[in-house]
Amino acid sequence: MPVSYEGFWNILADKSISPSSISKLAGISTSTLKRLRQNEEVSLSTLCKLCSFLDCDLGKLVCYIPGEEPVTNKKVSTFNIGSRRFLGNKYKLLSFITRVVDSHCEDVRSIADIFSGTGSVASAFTDRQVITNDLMYSSYLCNYACFGSQKYRKSKLLGIIARYNALYSSEENYMTENFADTYFSREDCSKIGYIREDIESRFSDNEINQRERAILIMSLIYAMDRIANTCGHYDAFIRNSVFDRHLIMSLPDVGNSNNPGNECFNEDANELVKRIYADLVYIDPPYNSRQYCDTYHLLENVARWEKPQVYGVARKMDRSKMKSLYCTRSAESAFKDLIKNISARYILFSYNNMSQKGDDRSNARISDTVIYNVFNEKGRLTVFEEEYRPFTTGKSDIKDNAERLFLCECCHD
Ligand SMILES: C[S@@+](CC[C@H](N)C(=O)[O-])C[C@H]1O[C@@H](n2cnc3c(N)ncnc32)[C@H](O)[C@@H]1O
Repeated sequence: MPVSYEGFWNILADKSISPSSISKLAGISTSTLKRLRQNEEVSLSTLCKLCSFLDCDLGKLVCYIPGEEPVTNKKVSTFNIGSRRFLGNKYKLLSFITRVVDSHCEDVRSIADIFSGTGSVASAFTDRQVITNDLMYSSYLCNYACFGSQKYRKSKLLGIIARYNALYSSEENYMTENFADTYFSREDCSKIGYIREDIESRFSDNEINQRERAILIMSLIYAMDRIANTCGHYDAFIRNSVFDRHLIMSLPDVGNSNNPGNECFNEDANELVKRIYADLVYIDPPYNSRQYCDTYHLLENVARWEKPQVYGVARKMDRSKMKSLYCTRSAESAFKDLIKNISARYILFSYNNMSQKGDDRSNARISDTVIYNVFNEKGRLTVFEEEYRPFTTGKSDIKDNAERLFLCECCHD
C-alpha cells in the first residue's frame, strides 16, 4: 500500500505502550499489527478503534506516500472446481449425469447435492436452486465459496491474493511447528500459517465478508493441494523430497449472481434430509472404507483452523467426530435410513459396480441387493451405466468398472 503507519508506531513509543498491550487493550489481532508493520491494508474500523484508544486523529496514525504503487493484481490467475485431486470427484462424469437428469426428469427446479465433496455436480445445475452439504468443513467452505449468494468483491480479493503471493514469511507458527518439511517446505508452511491467520483476522475485523473468507480459504486449499508432497492424499508424505514447487494462490472462478435460494450445509446427510425438500436429491456417498477425514486431514485442519495437536508420522489430528458411517459396516443401514427420510420427486444415486472386485479397501460397502430393495420400496427405479476408470490404491487390477446412476422416481403415499 502507498501508505505509512510510522505515526502510529511513534505514538506507541511516546506513550510507552508495547505492541502486545495495545493488542490486548484495544482488541487488535496480532496479524493486524503485522499488517501495520508492513504498511499493508488495514480496515477503517480498525484505524478508528486505534484513534479512539490513543485519543488522536486519523492523520496522526497514517499518511499517504505518493509514487508508491500497490502490488499489481494482473498476475493472479483463476481456476475451477474440477482442478482438484479429490477421490470420487464427478467432474468427468458431468455430461453423463446431466444427460440422465435432462432426459428422464421433468421440471426439476431445485437440486440437493448432499454428499457434495468438491461441489462438481452442483456446479452443473447452477441455473436452478442448489443445496449442498458435506460432513467435511473444507468441502462446505469450498461449496459456500462457489454457490453462496452473498456478493463478493473480486478486485479486493485479487489484491489480497496478489499480496499473499508476493509475501515471504519466516515466522514460526502452527504450520511450521507441526508440518515443516513434511507435506510442504518450512518456508511454505510459514506462509500457509501466516495467510490462514491473516484471513481470519481480516474476517474478524469486518474487512472481508463470510463469502470472501470462504473464497480465500478455498484458494489456499487448492494452492496447497497443487504443491503438496504426496501422491494425491495425505495418508503419507514422500520422504527426502525436494520442495521445488511453491505456494501460489489463484482466484476460483465463481459466480457473483448465484440463486438467492441456494443453501450450503455442513452436517450428516442423514440428519439434513429430515429437514429439506428438493425436486431432485443427488446422493454420492463414499463407496469404500477410505474415510475422507483421514485422506484430507491436513486440508481439513487448515480449513477449520482450530490448531489441534497432531500425531504420528502422517501428523493427523483427532478425527473421531468426523468419521462417516458410509465407510463402515453400518453403511447399508445408514443408506436405508437416508432413503426412507428423503423428501423429493427424484433421487439420483451414484455408485459403482465394485462391491466384490477390488481389494478389501476398495470394495463397495453397499450391496446391489440392498440398493435395489431400498429403491423399489421408495418408487420406480431405472439404472444407467457408463464405463469409468476408478481411483484405487494402485494395488488392485480392476477391470470392467462401471459408474452407475440409479434414478428413482419417488412415489408419494
Ligand atoms: C464420493 S465423495 C463426493 C464427491 C463429489 N460428488 C464430487 O464430485 O466431488 C463423498 C463425500 O461425502 C462426504 N460424506 C461422507 N459421509 C457423509 C455424511 N454422512 N454426510 C454428509 N457427507 C458425507 C465426504 O466428506 C465426501 O466429500
